[in-house]
Amino acid sequence: MPFHTLYGKLAITLLGLLLAVGATYILLTAYFTKNHLRETSQELNRTLAANLIKERDFIRNGNIQVDAVATVFESFMVINPSIELYLLDHDGKILSYSAPKGAVMTDQINLAPINQFLDDQPLPILGDDPRAVGRKKIFSAAPLVGKNNELCYLYVVLRGENYDSISDVLGDSYILRIGSWVTAGSLALALISGLFLFSQYTRRLTRLSETMTQFRNSDLSQHTPNVELTPQSEDEIGKLESSFNDLAKRVILQLKELRETDTYRCDMVANISHDLRTPLASMQGYLETLLLKDGELDPEKQREYIEIALRHSHRMGKLIKDLFELARLDSGDIDIDKTNFSLHELAFDIMQKHQLDAEQRGISLSCNDANDTCNAYGDIGLIERVLENLIENAIRHCNQNGSVKINITGNSNNVQVRVTDTGKGIPSDELNHIFNRFYQVDKHRTNKNGSAGLGLAIVKRILDLHHSDIEVSSEVDKGTEFSFALGCAITQANTSEHIAT
Ligand SMILES: Nc1ncnc2c1ncn2[C@@H]1O[C@H](COP(=O)(O)OP(=O)(O)O)[C@@H](O)[C@H]1O
Ligand SMILES: [Mg+2]
Repeated sequence: MPFHTLYGKLAITLLGLLLAVGATYILLTAYFTKNHLRETSQELNRTLAANLIKERDFIRNGNIQVDAVATVFESFMVINPSIELYLLDHDGKILSYSAPKGAVMTDQINLAPINQFLDDQPLPILGDDPRAVGRKKIFSAAPLVGKNNELCYLYVVLRGENYDSISDVLGDSYILRIGSWVTAGSLALALISGLFLFSQYTRRLTRLSETMTQFRNSDLSQHTPNVELTPQSEDEIGKLESSFNDLAKRVILQLKELRETDTYRCDMVANISHDLRTPLASMQGYLETLLLKDGELDPEKQREYIEIALRHSHRMGKLIKDLFELARLDSGDIDIDKTNFSLHELAFDIMQKHQLDAEQRGISLSCNDANDTCNAYGDIGLIERVLENLIENAIRHCNQNGSVKINITGNSNNVQVRVTDTGKGIPSDELNHIFNRFYQVDKHRTNKNGSAGLGLAIVKRILDLHHSDIEVSSEVDKGTEFSFALGCAITQANTSEHIAT
């Protein structure tokens, strides 16, 4: 199991925790059992020393019979080697004992535990073990009082059960041994279940990590990888999986947009080149002819050639102007100079400019009468471009004897402009595209008057900057209607503001 993986780390942590819990449990149980056994044993033998004194005749005529005590001790050593008897003087000095000769290592016993014992303090109380300096044992004790208040102690060390170490306790208690095995078994079971659950959780993380690697390694420019994960729950890993799904979708989408922008850029360069090359070549042709046939051409022809060359240069100029305007609108560093103005007056001015052109084409151009619509609030120069483009388109695409109508209506919030013509209309599947740059419904691009499919793109951009939408409805061979709305003028002292967009 590699320990640098999350699973490895979790497994080793769990193992450590379970071992610590197990060890603590066994240590605590052993400790309490040891004390419990000592307590019971000492409790059982509490009156042992007193009974011995009562049974045996250690005091004769008020004198403590040290020699007699020694004889009794010897017989005890044979009968019950699990207890050792000591006779102590009032200072705790050993006067006589029942242990084998040479086994006793000290001749002085601390009296404090003995006094505690005689005071009936809670058991177990540990006293000095004379056989080993520093070792403690449970005991029983009773005072022997001779004449003249001579005081001695009978000190009985209960050697029988040896509970000094944990292994002694465990070795001695069957229940405790079984208990320890049961504990070890449950901890092992907990370890196995824990490891199984961890493997379940980490498997989902591994799957996520593999999917991410697959996504990272896939060639996004060639194909879109299918890396969608199905979150199995709402937990943190589930959220991580959902976040990855969103992230992957976003990367793929942005890449697609980038690719589209790139294609669009290439198309645009091709369109611009095409739209500039045609009039340029034509203009060059006429000028060269003029130069070559200098003197041979009659003045009428000469004038005609010059006029054609001039028309082509106007077309180029218009295209370049449109491109420049669109680039400026796109760049974002254009100042919109919003003012209050009458849309009616503006529409009338533009209509008059196109009246002659419309008449020549046999088209009636009209605008509804001024009514009490509010003034509009916007950049008058830019809105003029919008109306120009729409009216110019309407006239150009209108049939002979048709009509182009400008209708301006309003309510308290905004003014609505509709430019309606009775022209050839736009097929419904083209309606979504006409606002794209260089898009023309007539694919043959008959751009005699410099129209290159930029007009409506400019209109849309300008209205975007005024937070307004342009709408179009059209029916083939019946006509088309473009409409948009502008907010009403704000009646403040300072109605002119410059908004940098
Ligand atoms: N009023 C209209 N009637 C019919 N078709 C129209 C009308 N206005 C625009 N269109 C179509 O939408 C296209 C895009 O218009 P526009 O962006 O102004 O480009 P352009 O006028 O330079 O061709 C036009 O080529 C034309 O096919
Ligand atoms: Mg146009």
